[in-house]
Amino acid sequence: MNLNKKAIESYSTQSINAQDEKSVLDALRSDFLSRGPKIDLFEKKLGKICNNKNVLSVNSATSALQLAYQVHGIDNNSVLWTSPITFVATSNAALQLGAKIDFVDIDPDTLNICPKKLEKKLSHVAGTHDSPGFLTVVHFGGNPCDMKEIFKLSKKYKFKVIEDASHALGAFYNGYPIGDQRYSCASVFSFHPVKMITTGEGGALLLDSIGKLENARQLCSHGIVREKFMKDGMPEWYYEQIELGYNFRMSELQAALGLSQITRLRQFVKKRNRLAKIYQENLDKYPLKYQRVTPNDLSSYHLFIVRITNKAFKRDDLYRFLKQKKIGCQVHYIPVHLHPYYKKLGFCAGMFPEAEKYYESCLSLPLHQNLKELELEYICDALKEFFKC
Ligand SMILES: Cc1ncc(COP(=O)(O)O)c(C=O)c1O
Repeated sequence: MNLNKKAIESYSTQSINAQDEKSVLDALRSDFLSRGPKIDLFEKKLGKICNNKNVLSVNSATSALQLAYQVHGIDNNSVLWTSPITFVATSNAALQLGAKIDFVDIDPDTLNICPKKLEKKLSHVAGTHDSPGFLTVVHFGGNPCDMKEIFKLSKKYKFKVIEDASHALGAFYNGYPIGDQRYSCASVFSFHPVKMITTGEGGALLLDSIGKLENARQLCSHGIVREKFMKDGMPEWYYEQIELGYNFRMSELQAALGLSQITRLRQFVKKRNRLAKIYQENLDKYPLKYQRVTPNDLSSYHLFIVRITNKAFKRDDLYRFLKQKKIGCQVHYIPVHLHPYYKKLGFCAGMFPEAEKYYESCLSLPLHQNLKELELEYICDALKEFFKC
């Protein structure tokens, strides 16, 4: 069997072609390595895909989250709720600003925040200090959350919605691209190598207003203002720092890679969807459950997650079995509230039962551009062998 062993060794990996290499080399040979024309172009292309002109490229989704939170006024008086099934960055970025964090349990089918549990929790705390000013929804694995329902609740209970769309570039909710800010005030994407497209490290922040974009751009670069003074006739070297910011900037080399990668985004999403379908068809008879995608939506399938439904089989045994066969798999994620740091904040096991049940049974199987059907067949055969043992 002419198997591409490297392709099955990781649950996800980048896909780099000659066009990507040329794009980065062109940038390297150009006059700009830091901010330059390719960043502007990359932001325009992202904006076109997401139907939103207010785009800022940054050095990671973590930075984008922090900027999103800061420009919307999150501080040590704020309460932010999110899903316990996410990467720690989603809530850490708000903790960095001093906010109080809490979680809302997931829907066991979609694996996203459960709108019903959200409403119940909101109604309990309404009018108290625990009532959230902010909710960060996570389109987990690229599967869009029920944004209409969440938007309705945000109007009723008066909180702002932020989308951690780190997994969801290229996904569509009810026919609309994730990132268009129809139902939220900010969206964040990640361009880490395992994500939908890569810039090495990198991320983007999409906002619902040009004013917020200008604020985020300023914070992204030390809180410094330069253009305004040039317009006022000051010399080019003049700038003023007017608030405390960061260096969260993306480089021209990263943007060059992103610009080339983004031309293949649709193809990437299509392939991931096709492979996910093949997995489900092949493993139909085995005790596995998959993430439910609403028929009106398009998941970007950043992750292909299986849940073992027969308690006779243990996730960790499956993990070891696949690892022995050099099949890359991963657990996404350890529920955030179970990390020692969060336990010190007062969280403990038992608080979010669906998230914890999910965690016990889940495994992400390989899903990326470099996988072919032959490799998928090999992975499925390994799973079948495990369940027959
Ligand atoms: C849901 C989610 N949010 C945020 C991040 C942080 O992304 P980055 O590595 O680009 O900072 C990740 C990364 O894995 C993620 O999965």
